[in-house]
Amino acid sequence: MAKILITSALPYINGIKHLGNLIGSMLSADVYARFMRAAGNTVLFICATDEHGTPAEIAAHEEGLPVEEYCRKQHEIQAQIYRDFALSFDYFGRSSSPQNHELTNHFYHRLDDAGLIEERAIAQVYSIDDGRFLPDRYITGTCPHCGYPNARGDQCENCTRLLEPTDLKDARSAISGSSNLEVRETKHLFLKLPVLADRVEAWIDSQKDWPLLVSSIAKGWLKEGLQDRGITRDLKWGVPVDRPGFEGKVFYVWFDAPIEYIGATKEWADAAPPGEMRDWKAWWYDAHDVRYVEFMAKDNVPFHTVSFPATILGSGEPWKLADYIKGFSWLNFYGGKFSTSQKRGIFLDQALAEYPSDYWRYWLLANAPETDDTSFTFGGFAGVCNKDLADTFGNFVNRTLRFCSARFGDAVPAGGKPGPMEGELTASVQTTLDRYTAALGAMQLRRAAEALRELWVLGNVYIDRAAPWTAIKTDKDRAAIILRTAINLARLYAILGSPIIPDTCARLREALGVTVGDDYWPNDAAAELAALPAGHAFSVPPPLFKKIAPEEVVALAARYGGDEAGEGAA
Ligand code: MF3
Ligand code: ZN
Repeated sequence: MAKILITSALPYINGIKHLGNLIGSMLSADVYARFMRAAGNTVLFICATDEHGTPAEIAAHEEGLPVEEYCRKQHEIQAQIYRDFALSFDYFGRSSSPQNHELTNHFYHRLDDAGLIEERAIAQVYSIDDGRFLPDRYITGTCPHCGYPNARGDQCENCTRLLEPTDLKDARSAISGSSNLEVRETKHLFLKLPVLADRVEAWIDSQKDWPLLVSSIAKGWLKEGLQDRGITRDLKWGVPVDRPGFEGKVFYVWFDAPIEYIGATKEWADAAPPGEMRDWKAWWYDAHDVRYVEFMAKDNVPFHTVSFPATILGSGEPWKLADYIKGFSWLNFYGGKFSTSQKRGIFLDQALAEYPSDYWRYWLLANAPETDDTSFTFGGFAGVCNKDLADTFGNFVNRTLRFCSARFGDAVPAGGKPGPMEGELTASVQTTLDRYTAALGAMQLRRAAEALRELWVLGNVYIDRAAPWTAIKTDKDRAAIILRTAINLARLYAILGSPIIPDTCARLREALGVTVGDDYWPNDAAAELAALPAGHAFSVPPPLFKKIAPEEVVALAARYGGDEAGEGAA
C-alpha cells in the first residue's frame, strides 16, 4: 500500500486531440492509475488543459471569441471527451487557474531569490505583416541539426532538439507565411540553466530504471550543454510576470505548464466537498512517502527531464521530482503523421462517434508505441477488435452465459467437482494472471494487453475442450462444473479487464452480479474460479462487442483519409 502520484502530460487547449495524443499520455496513465488503485494503493491521478501560449490566442481569434471564453469552452469539450473515454482523473484542471498563477510566480520568485534569473534585453523576431512579435513556435524554418524543413522555432519535432528561433534557416511566420520579419529589442527573463546543469545531471544519473527512450533523450540533451532559457514572452494571454517593468508580459507556456501539475492538485484540494479534507501539499512537498510517475510522448521528455526539474531544484524547496517517467514514441496514421491542420487521422470526438471507447482503448493499448513508432490503420483496428474483443472475449462470455441460461437457468449451476481439466486451467490462469499483474505494475502496456488476451484464449480453449454441450447429454454434473468454472472465469475477466476496457467490464460485472469493487485485484486463481457459488444469479448481457465488417473498414478509410491499399496499411 503506497501513495502514487500520477500525471499525464497536459493536452493543449486548442482543438480536440487525436488517438496519438491519447495513447501517448492520458490513456496509458489511466490504465496505470486504475491498476494501482485496484492493487490497493492510494492514487492521485492529475491532468489539466495546457491553456497558455499563442496557439490558444490564435485559435480563439479564429473562432471570434475572447481567449478566456474560448479556453473555458474548449476545456469543457475536452473534459467531456475524456469522461467518455473513461479516463479516471481525480482532477482535470486548467493551467489558467488562479492556483497556477500563484504557484508559477512563487517558483519564479524562488528562482530569482536564488540568483538564477537574469533580465536581458533581447532581439526578437517581429512580424511586420502580422503586427506582433512572433513567439518561437510561430516561426518555422529548416532545422539546423537534421534539415527537417518544417521545424518550429522552439523545437524540431523531427529530431526533438530544442531550438531558438534564430537557429532556423529560411525563417517565416507560421501565422501568415510572411518572411517579412524583422528583429526588435524587448526585455525578457532568463533561467540560468547552466548553473543548474550539475544538479539536474546528478538527478538524472540517479535514475537507474527509466526506460531507454527517456534516459537517452534526457542524457542526449544534457550532453549538448544547457543554455540560458527565456521564460517570459510578449503576449497578453498567460501568467502575468510579477516584476516591475514586466507589465504586459507573461511567462512562457512551458514554464507555467508543468507547474500546473501542482496547480491542479491545489485545484483538486480547493474543490473538496464540505467535510472532505484534501491535503494537496502532502502530495508534493516533502512528500517522501509518495511515488511520482509521469506519462508523456517523447517530444515532452526534455521539458520533464531537464526544464521542469531545473525549476524544482532551483527553487531550493523540497518539491517532488518524478520517480519514474514513462515515455512514448509516435503513433502514426497509415505510416504518416496525424495532422490536425490537414485533418489527417482520427480525432477523439470522431473516434467516439464511430465505436465505443473500449474498442479504441483496447487497440491503442495493444499497439502502444512504447519503444518504436506504431501505425494505426482501420484494417488493423478492425482485425484486432474482431479477433480479440468480439471472437475471443465477447464470444466466450456470450456462449457460456447463453448455454447456461438455456440449460440450467439464470444462476450458477450446482453439482459436480473440479477435475483435471479445471486443475490445468487454474494453473494456466495463475501463470498468465501473474504475468498480467507484473506487466501492469511495470507499465508495460502491450505486454499487459497480450496477457489479458491470453487469459481470454485460455477460456475459449477450456470450454472447447470441456464441451459442456456434449457433457450435458450424459453427465449433467460434469456440465454444471464446467459452466460454474466458465462463469467464474467470466467474472475474473470482468475484474481483470477493468484497467483496459472499463466500460465493458462494468457491464459484465453488473450482469454477473460481481460485488467486489474497483479497489480489488485478484491474485489467487483457484479462489477466483470458485468465487461465485452455485445459485448465484446472473443475467445474459447483449453481445459485448459488435464485429466490424470489411465494408466498414473501406468506408472508414475513405472518410478519414487512410489508404487501405497503400504501404502503411496493415
Ligand atoms: N501541452 C504539451 C503537449 O501537448 C504538454 C505539456 S505537459 C506539461 O505537448 F507538463 F508541461 F504540462
Ligand atoms: Zn531537427
